[in-house]
Amino acid sequence: MTKTRFLPGLHGFENMENNKVGAVMVVGAGIAGIQASLDLADSGYKVYLVEKDPSIGGVMTQLDKTFPTNDCSMCIVSPKLVECSRHANVELLTYSDIEKVQGEAGHFTIRVNKKARSVDPAKCTGCRECMTACPVSKRIQIPETIEQEETEETHITDQIIAKYGGKKQALIMILQDVQNRFHYLPEAALRRISTRLELSFAEIYGTASFYKAFSLEPRGQHIIQVCMGTACHVRGAQRILEEFERLLSINTGQTTEDRLFTLETVNCLGACALGPIVTVDEGYHGNMTPGGAAKLIDRYAKNKR
Ligand code: FES
Repeated sequence: MTKTRFLPGLHGFENMENNKVGAVMVVGAGIAGIQASLDLADSGYKVYLVEKDPSIGGVMTQLDKTFPTNDCSMCIVSPKLVECSRHANVELLTYSDIEKVQGEAGHFTIRVNKKARSVDPAKCTGCRECMTACPVSKRIQIPETIEQEETEETHITDQIIAKYGGKKQALIMILQDVQNRFHYLPEAALRRISTRLELSFAEIYGTASFYKAFSLEPRGQHIIQVCMGTACHVRGAQRILEEFERLLSINTGQTTEDRLFTLETVNCLGACALGPIVTVDEGYHGNMTPGGAAKLIDRYAKNKR
């Protein structure tokens, strides 16, 4: 359902001994529209800022850097978004279109078509909980003719999903189990979860990429973490890290070819007195030395054999 709203006549700019009268409509809430609205609002005019999308900011919010200074786009635009939404003289009309403009310069009446949002923006916290409760689905259905390839990954994923009764609410637990089984989240498994739980792939991917505990890249059976916090650093953590890199023939952040080890760094494990400290999976190994690193790798490699 959409709502159509008549705005009061937009009288032109008129200065009457510092008393501003009338209102201004700015169409398009990109960076230019936002800046124009703020300047006009700061001058004392009532501003109606109309945007066809549900949110303001436009393309600039999607950019990483701005040319030619390479400044961070969001750092520039974010304060303006906040200011615009809080300015007493700015009324935001998002998710709206201009339907009709009548009048002449200095006296316009504009008809704005406000599209239904189905949520109350004043109450929305962006938690996305409503998406799971919403009875209306806009998911793209995968045609039945497109069969997902059956692999060991999809087969195991099916078993994990069945363990939780195929409930959407168990998504995190399902992802955890898949990660424990494969040491990362294979794309085939994510697609299978999406189909079985009837959640969009974007939603599954969003959850999987949000939590640091989940990895979308293959990881080793054992995760070696070298603490690079200050206390460990001054006790030679850099030397230990380099020794692990040399022994495993990988760089930090990489996984060995046999998928046995992944090497990572962390900042302070809360056991500074034992530094330099290394963890392998859940185990802590304090006062680490280059010789100790070799023994540690040997021990876990032998276990595999
Ligand atoms: S700095 Fe390494 S445990 Fe605190």
